Amino acid sequence: MSTTIPPADPLLAATGEQAWIEVIQKMDEVYNDLLQYEVALEEKNSALEESHQFIESVLAAMSDILIVCDRNGGIVEVNPALCHLSGRSSEELVSTPVFNLFADETEQAKARDAFARYARDGLHDCEFFLRASDGSTVPVSMNCTPRVSQTGKLMGVVVTGRPVGDLRKAYQALRQAHEDLKRTQGQLLHAEKMVSLGRLVAGVAHELNNPISFVLGNVLSLQRYATRLGRYLDAVHGSGAGEHDGLPALRDELRIDRILADMPNLIDGMIEGAERTRDIVDALKRFSAVDKAAPEEVDLNEVIERSVRWVTRSGPGQFAVDLELPPAMHCRGSSGQLQQVVMNLVQNACDATADRSNARLRISGTIAEQQIVLRFADNGPGIPEANLAHIFEPFFTTKPVGQGTGLGLSISYGIVERHGGRLEVHNIPDGGAEFTLTLPRH
Ligand SMILES: Nc1ncnc2c1ncn2[C@@H]1O[C@H](COP(=O)(O)OP(=O)(O)O)[C@@H](O)[C@H]1O
Ligand SMILES: [Mg+2]
Repeated sequence: MSTTIPPADPLLAATGEQAWIEVIQKMDEVYNDLLQYEVALEEKNSALEESHQFIESVLAAMSDILIVCDRNGGIVEVNPALCHLSGRSSEELVSTPVFNLFADETEQAKARDAFARYARDGLHDCEFFLRASDGSTVPVSMNCTPRVSQTGKLMGVVVTGRPVGDLRKAYQALRQAHEDLKRTQGQLLHAEKMVSLGRLVAGVAHELNNPISFVLGNVLSLQRYATRLGRYLDAVHGSGAGEHDGLPALRDELRIDRILADMPNLIDGMIEGAERTRDIVDALKRFSAVDKAAPEEVDLNEVIERSVRWVTRSGPGQFAVDLELPPAMHCRGSSGQLQQVVMNLVQNACDATADRSNARLRISGTIAEQQIVLRFADNGPGIPEANLAHIFEPFFTTKPVGQGTGLGLSISYGIVERHGGRLEVHNIPDGGAEFTLTLPRH
């Protein structure tokens, strides 16, 4: 048995082989390329990974917070410091509005405003309060810089912030303590000064009391005697007695007629002066608590209304007093003395606003647990800083001689102290002075 193999076409066989070889070579090349690409890709990938890890580690190491926002304030990226502060993961934070991080509505509004205003120019070291994970608020000093695309288009902002809480809190507490200390020291000094002034004034009043009483008493007697003496001399002159002894000449020489005519005026002047001095001594006694009245229940509404009525009745017509008083305000003490205090405050406000066209005094009252607080705010010029420390001192006045004694406030201060209250003063930022009268409630 025999098999026959068909004769091969040598040409055909040669071209087929060549084509195969070429195909295989091409495949080889492509495969090589592919391998190279893969290696390059892997290298790039690991470089990318490395730089990503680098950035991540940098972000994680940052103690300052970092927030990347889009143009509308939506969060794009945050760092772990913010997650730690806000108590939320970055997945929870991304895509939410950055404003939600702020402590309350006021802070949010402030942040929105700053965001809208400074997105282009940036914002430096501006303090905001953020809401911390435990619900407390944390002061953060923030910087905000614009984030732009390659073509210069604004893409959003990058916000960094440094919590300044603990240091700031400690500093604030220190400052507060310092302020409190300063104020208490001032009050102590003031109280000390008023006490020693009270003692001094009480001594002076006591010393003056006797002499002025007998001056006044004697002058009044003299007034009576003078009329009688006048009548007697008139009778002597009328009778013509002593004509021969040269009495008329002596009468002329001594100007007896002028003296007689002048005497009533002189005596009236003396009485007025003595009375004024007695009033001042009385006032000094009231300042230093020499006379004490038995305490009674005082209706402050009544006291205030009466005082205002009396002062405004005698003062210029355009002085307006607004009363904002709660219905029942009662304290214990002397209604006469408290009325003196209120009248003096109203009178001072009236004097201070005398040259204003819309002169106004607002008396408002509030009742706290144990206290009644009355505020007297006027729209006058206020009190110069240098005078504030002195206006409760006796005889301190800025009014012309004859118009002010400078005793009103010092007496009022003494009265209020003895009622267990306080009289204070400060200037209102919008202008004018405000006296605060605090009394224990009954
Ligand atoms: N409401 C006020 N506005 C501005 N200054 C005031 C006011 N009340 C008081 N003063 C100042 O305090 C000073 C002392 O007041 P006071 O003791 O009542 O004495 P006086 O009214 O006799 O001057 C006043 O001279 C005035 O300078
Ligand atoms: Mg006065």
